[in-house]
Amino acid sequence: MSKKIALLVGSESKNSVSQKIADYLIANAPQSLQLFKVSIAKLPLYDRDFDELAEQPTEYERFRDELKNAVSFIWISPEHNAAPTAAIKNAIDIASRPWGAGIWTGKAVGIISSAASRLGGAIAADQLRTIASLLEMPVLPFNANISESHLILNEEGKISHPSVIRLLDKFLLKYEEFVAKF
Ligand SMILES: Cc1cc2nc3c(=O)[nH]c(=O)nc-3n(C[C@H](O)[C@H](O)[C@H](O)COP(=O)(O)O)c2cc1C
Repeated sequence: MSKKIALLVGSESKNSVSQKIADYLIANAPQSLQLFKVSIAKLPLYDRDFDELAEQPTEYERFRDELKNAVSFIWISPEHNAAPTAAIKNAIDIASRPWGAGIWTGKAVGIISSAASRLGGAIAADQLRTIASLLEMPVLPFNANISESHLILNEEGKISHPSVIRLLDKFLLKYEEFVAKF
């Protein structure tokens, strides 16, 4: 049976390159992995006062329930001002609480960044790695930092750049090997 893997994508802008990266992974994943996206764009901003409410915001419930269908995760984020996007950080925080009922602990994660610069969002990816470590998540030791993100799509809006395809295919292979251990 294939493993269910939830993808969080740090940008849901209408022409988001990160969404295209996620679409590529979903379409090209090996048979052992079943990848699906979990939307994060409409999640209210996390506030710890929510943790004390008997009833959680509907979007929090929906988000946490969808994440619970997954055994492992992939976080994809553009770099925004030398950090992961606020949207993905907010989503990670929401799923880390209420205290003691977080979803992340012990679950494996792979990280992909994209950015306009040649560094490919390496700073954002490193910060996501630090966050994952704090959450006690095993992190795939492979750097998938996609640089010059504005150049990687073809006229149909699909990923066409050969080096990006090679990188994402390698990420999928390494990720498959990695999550087999958990
Ligand atoms: C608010 C903002 C901040 C950004 N900061 C950086 C940055 O620090 N480094 C960088 O290389 N690119 C930066 N970019 C460019 C984005 O990382 C790049 O365009 C990314 O691919 C956008 O992803 P998306 O199309 O999925 O939204 C920034 C873009 C925005 C909108």
